[in-house]
Amino acid sequence: MERRTFIRLVGLGGAAGIIAPQSVLANPPSMAGGVYYTKDAPGRWSKKVGGHLPHIEVEKGPAGTRIRVVTSHEMRGCEHYIIKHVVLDGNYRFLMENRFDPMKTKAPVSDFDLGRYAGRIHVLSLCNIHDLWLNVAEV
Ligand SMILES: [Fe+2]
Repeated sequence: MERRTFIRLVGLGGAAGIIAPQSVLANPPSMAGGVYYTKDAPGRWSKKVGGHLPHIEVEKGPAGTRIRVVTSHEMRGCEHYIIKHVVLDGNYRFLMENRFDPMKTKAPVSDFDLGRYAGRIHVLSLCNIHDLWLNVAEV
């Protein structure tokens, strides 16, 4: 191979290596159904939606907004349980979480005081076997 051709190919390969990851980051494939699961994208856990999708109850009052998150999932000690609930804001920034003790928690229920926050929230529920589930609400 001619030296100039080799240098040109190396340059193109390097440019492709730099450009490709950026284009992937700019247009990521949907992660629902793969990295995390939703009602509409349960992926490999299509038969597990009912016991893993976090249910969100919103209560607005004069002191602000409170939510109750319930995952209808058994707490079978360390064998099979919900690890935690996490609340993110509309931009996926962490707001708060509640971790469960598999040896003490009877049911995965969390109460969160969102104060004056208004807008979209993303709620995550994490099972030690069936992964991470996402639900969304407007508060
Ligand atoms: Fe589970």
